[in-house]
Amino acid sequence: MSETAPDSADGNVASGTGDNSFVVVANRLPVDMIIESDGTKSWQESPGGLVSAVSPVLEKHQGCWVGWPGVTDEAPEPFRTERGVLLHPVELTQHDFEEFYEGFSNATLWPLYHNLIVTPEFNRSWWDAYRDVNLRFATEVASVAAPGATVWVQDYQLQLVPGILRQLRPDLTIGFFLHIPFPPPDIYRQLPWRSEMLRGLLDADLIGFHLESNVRNFVELCRGYDMEVSGEIKVREAGITITLPNGHSLGVGVFPISIDTSAIAATLAADTHHESHGELEQMHHNMGSPSTVFLGVDRLDYTKGILQRLLAFEELLDSGALDPKEVALVQLATPSRERIDSYRTTRSNVEEAVGRINGRFSQIGRPVVHYQHRSVTKDVLMRYYRLADVMLVTPFRDGMNLVAKEFVATRADSSGALVLSEFAGAADELTQAHLCNPFDIEDIKKAMLQATWGLKNNPEAMKERMSAMYNQVMEHDVDLWANAFLGALGALEQKHSV
Ligand code: ADP
Ligand code: G6P
Repeated sequence: MSETAPDSADGNVASGTGDNSFVVVANRLPVDMIIESDGTKSWQESPGGLVSAVSPVLEKHQGCWVGWPGVTDEAPEPFRTERGVLLHPVELTQHDFEEFYEGFSNATLWPLYHNLIVTPEFNRSWWDAYRDVNLRFATEVASVAAPGATVWVQDYQLQLVPGILRQLRPDLTIGFFLHIPFPPPDIYRQLPWRSEMLRGLLDADLIGFHLESNVRNFVELCRGYDMEVSGEIKVREAGITITLPNGHSLGVGVFPISIDTSAIAATLAADTHHESHGELEQMHHNMGSPSTVFLGVDRLDYTKGILQRLLAFEELLDSGALDPKEVALVQLATPSRERIDSYRTTRSNVEEAVGRINGRFSQIGRPVVHYQHRSVTKDVLMRYYRLADVMLVTPFRDGMNLVAKEFVATRADSSGALVLSEFAGAADELTQAHLCNPFDIEDIKKAMLQATWGLKNNPEAMKERMSAMYNQVMEHDVDLWANAFLGALGALEQKHSV
């Protein structure tokens, strides 16, 4: 991954003394600290869609980012990145890592909010850790935010931060954005600490979700708590107002997240240099020059449906619908949350399937599945996107899924096809994709075959589909997302201060 070095060489170490007018707080910083066995420290981009989307926004605003540096029991001094973002590390102990991060955030909330794909665990000591760590994050933010600053709290790991921050710093304007789905009220209500969690969130001035369905779920939940709800659901606006018994009111709206299209365009333009050296052709040749390349790019997470997509591919090879001499599937899987049982099981099932499929259908020196369990740099990732004929994005549930949009953004020439799960948030916008139900292997197979058949036999119709999706993504980029959210937050702040 690309290294983003702290700017300490120029002595520009920040004091973190409450002079930041725009602060983002997320569990993770945009970079993870890497500590080698000899103690050498370096930084690399941290994983996930939140970091991909929020980084360009903070670079534009030259704001301050409060977050965890990805290693336990370490919190380096605040520093500025080469791109001008002030990073303010928050220390998590090993105990916090196990109980707040692996436990409550990723073994309770993550499965609960992703519609119970695995069973959430409810553990009282994890909840205590979640409260403690949220208090610590809020206290850090309170110490770096300037009077009257705007604070943008990100994601499910920090849902108590708005409430704590409101008490510590009533002068702040507080936005909250949820990067994952918000579940139906019946599922949310399983959470033993549901009222306290909701109360913490509602102290924000604006809460943003990706999809209308998320807002509907949230509003229905609030109505069940006898909150006053008015207005209507709007996209890129705070259409709903919720009023609490204490008189505090907040806006709620749909703000579909997106990608940094100009950064992708710049990477693609820079890559034409490599292309002139035949790198893309070389990659294709190294894969045995298949006529159809399928591609999957995901964090290795059970929500992403990687195993089901491999099984669909295997059955298509088995039945002869796809010829193993003609096709290849590339699966890039970023390591994620590796010590949690459900993640270990997912990895072992995926790797067993990769081994079995290659054992059954590969020739020596010509695997039919190319699998990498590691991250790649953005420019290499772009090359994989460009190499693919059919992109496979088949999550069981996903807040948005930026991979689908990134792939589409590499298709200015309208080539290729996207197989997309109905349960990815991106399906609301990328309606021209080959949509499938990821719980139904027959349906995934059908979508894969339709895409492959269409590219060979109906190229004009396929180009129309891709071109519509390309225009959609280009017109709705990450700037639009951030400007809409921050604009709506600013408008609410003005209303309150009148
Ligand atoms: P999530 O946030 O659940 O991980 P998204 O699809 O929204 O899912 O975002 C994933 C982000 O991580 C994308 O920006 C994608 O480019 C990046 N990514 C995923 N896999 C890899 C990989 N193997 N190497 C590099 N980047 C990756
Ligand atoms: C998703 C979540 C983010 C999270 C990312 C990576 O995008 O919405 O909040 O940061 O996954 O997961 P990790 O557990 O490694 O931070």
